[in-house]
Amino acid sequence: MIYQVYPRSFADSDGDGLGDLQGVIDHLDHLVDLGVGTIWLSPFFASPQEDYGYDISDYCDVAPEYGTLETAQALIDAAHDRGLKVMFDLVINHTSDQHPWFARSRASRSNPKSDWYIWRDGRGRGGRRPPNNWRSAMEVKSAWQWSADRQQWYLATFLPFQPDLNLRNPEVKEAVFEAVRFWLRRGVDGFRLDIFGYVMKDPEFRDNPFGPVVDGSQTRIWQRTFTENTDDSIAFAKELRAVVDEFADQGGGDRVLLGEVFGTPETLRRYLGDGDGLQLVFLFDFLAYTYSAEFFRDRIAAYEREFPPPLQPTYVLENHDRSRLIDRVGGDEARARTLAVLLCTLRGVPTIYQGQEIAMANTPMRLREARDPIARSFFSWVPEAVVQRVPERLNRDEVRTPMQWNSEPNAGFTSPVAVAWLPVHPGYRDRNVAVQDGVEGSMLELYRLLLRIRSERPSLHRGSLRLRPVDPSNPEVLTYERIDHLTGAGAGSPEVTMITVNFASSAAWIEPGGRVELLVATDPSVVVTGGRLHLPPCSAVVVAVMERTSTWP
Ligand code: GLC
Repeated sequence: MIYQVYPRSFADSDGDGLGDLQGVIDHLDHLVDLGVGTIWLSPFFASPQEDYGYDISDYCDVAPEYGTLETAQALIDAAHDRGLKVMFDLVINHTSDQHPWFARSRASRSNPKSDWYIWRDGRGRGGRRPPNNWRSAMEVKSAWQWSADRQQWYLATFLPFQPDLNLRNPEVKEAVFEAVRFWLRRGVDGFRLDIFGYVMKDPEFRDNPFGPVVDGSQTRIWQRTFTENTDDSIAFAKELRAVVDEFADQGGGDRVLLGEVFGTPETLRRYLGDGDGLQLVFLFDFLAYTYSAEFFRDRIAAYEREFPPPLQPTYVLENHDRSRLIDRVGGDEARARTLAVLLCTLRGVPTIYQGQEIAMANTPMRLREARDPIARSFFSWVPEAVVQRVPERLNRDEVRTPMQWNSEPNAGFTSPVAVAWLPVHPGYRDRNVAVQDGVEGSMLELYRLLLRIRSERPSLHRGSLRLRPVDPSNPEVLTYERIDHLTGAGAGSPEVTMITVNFASSAAWIEPGGRVELLVATDPSVVVTGGRLHLPPCSAVVVAVMERTSTWP
């Protein structure tokens, strides 16, 4: 299980209103109590913070507001002392335009770093039209930025202040690999790879074809044939894997690479190579779900097909870029609880974003006041009244507000008299770690229970997954079993755990097909009686199958 910490908003140890690495160290026990196995920290490296750390100006240093290299080391060691693994965020598609590499590269066409970024002459008279039709990740604008210094265009796939590194240049590649080794030597267990699908663009700079695409959780107007998920990006994944494998035997087991890549399951699968690529890729489809048994059955079936054991799907319900789950379910906690059950019982790696475990909600903010550079760039030219009606509009600040630890002023995130860098959610007194701690039925206790059962039961943490065929009398019920063939009480009997989710707004009665014992229920009115399971609307149950009396078709 991977828990994402967004350091700026997790915990502030020195009262300046910004979270920091010492704050993370101080709260590691919360993560241990929750049942976390690995923490992934969003970037805390040297950066002008125009994209809050996703714009790095030195890969091997820590931004002073977060701590020092020593604090980073102390965090790695403190996590390891508690049995936690640590992943850092590797942002190598681009750097900040404040990185000294870029400053040099921009200075002239002939300096030693001139080819460290992707520079091209423009088209048209005087070269003042961008070199080709590549769009930035926001789609609206060209990905090319004009540099008056060089009288040339540089590529910035994300935002203009994030120039793309030229990873085809062997010197750049080596510099990046050295930064990776720098952290591996300090004991880091792996990396989450930021927008990894874009690392290698077409070397011939061919125009992308026009054509609207709905691809996983992303909708696009232009296809990204020549900029995203190219064969060379897949090859680069293998080169990076070879670098982390240099450290595989030096304590702590394998070092893991987890890619932020977008595409169909078939495309994403390619990043894993034949066991010689990335070990994990995020599967983002659950971020854009339809609340129905059919949607989840189809997605799970597709992922089981493309990522069969020993490969592992990596499921996501929240992160620092997308709406909080509780808002996506329209504030319906019952729905959020059923999805938590799915997340924690599916085969593979569940990921949790800080605050998800207490059902933190988006903090509504005016777009005009956004700090998030995407919200600013995307909506700067759209009237607020129109913006309010755009579906999926998101000011990412809304999901990055301070972690809600307790009911004190500032929610225990920072000193009660400090000014937090983003406002604390106004409802924090009713929703925080302290008020949910030990309270049966709270979201926090549900996550704790799910993660405990998951680690205790081999079928849940390493077993195979079998989807039950659709039950025509309960089409809105999804059932699957997790089966561990390696252990189990008695000669050769596998341990079996069954998970059933009722997506319907009416109750359902289910025949589990054997004698079962209740492990987790999202609702107190879930009952096992007379060999049948009763599931109220929007509920989920996890049961141990003690004895089978009938088999599924
Ligand atoms: C990824 C990050 C996002 C960041 C972007 C640019 O999508 O998750 O927060 O803004 O990459 O690095």
